[in-house]
Amino acid sequence: MTGKALIIRHAQLTDLGKIAEIESQAFENVWTEENLRKEICASFSMMLVAEANGEIAGYISAWKITGEIQINRLAVAASHRRRGIARRLIETLIDQSGMAPPYKILLEVREMNIAARALYRSLNFSENGFRKSYYRNDNAILLEKEIK
Ligand SMILES: CC(C)(COP(=O)(O)OP(=O)(O)OC[C@H]1O[C@@H](n2cnc3c(N)ncnc32)[C@H](O)[C@@H]1OP(=O)(O)O)[C@@H](O)C(=O)NCCC(=O)NCCS
Repeated sequence: MTGKALIIRHAQLTDLGKIAEIESQAFENVWTEENLRKEICASFSMMLVAEANGEIAGYISAWKITGEIQINRLAVAASHRRRGIARRLIETLIDQSGMAPPYKILLEVREMNIAARALYRSLNFSENGFRKSYYRNDNAILLEKEIK
């Protein structure tokens, strides 16, 4: 995808419907539109969307906590995957966080989520923790990346 075709920007309340649609297709423990609305509005939260040719193709939602960014959600619509959108969302989150290095980016991922683990590995996140049965039907891997 060319740089011109893909725009990463802050989410707006008018994006809620499309974000909720991608959310419901991507996750089992779906966040409701109300949960998502709170994430868009909270002062400590950062939600970015990827717009591909005018259509919302994915989003990332994170909390900025002292010295840390916690990624809570990242999803790309199935029809837009493997085009570098998730990578751009993470890179833009880091670029636009306004956090002063050094800080850490943290998240949990399902052990069986091969795509997400490969994505984070490609961005030099390290797998440095394990929570057995953290999810109803899976273990969690804790991921971390130090921004220097
Ligand atoms: C995980 C997810 C966000 C990846 O989004 P994406 O836009 O397709 O990812 P990208 O195109 O940016 O992929 C970047 C790199 O990640 C790795 N990757 C991504 N998807 C992969 C897959 N299905 N299999 C293997 N590697 C994969 C590759 O290294 C890829 O680089 P390449 O395409 O040059 O080989 C997407 O599959 C998704 O929304 N899944 C459902 C929700 C989810 O699991 N979210 C993550 C929760 S932590």
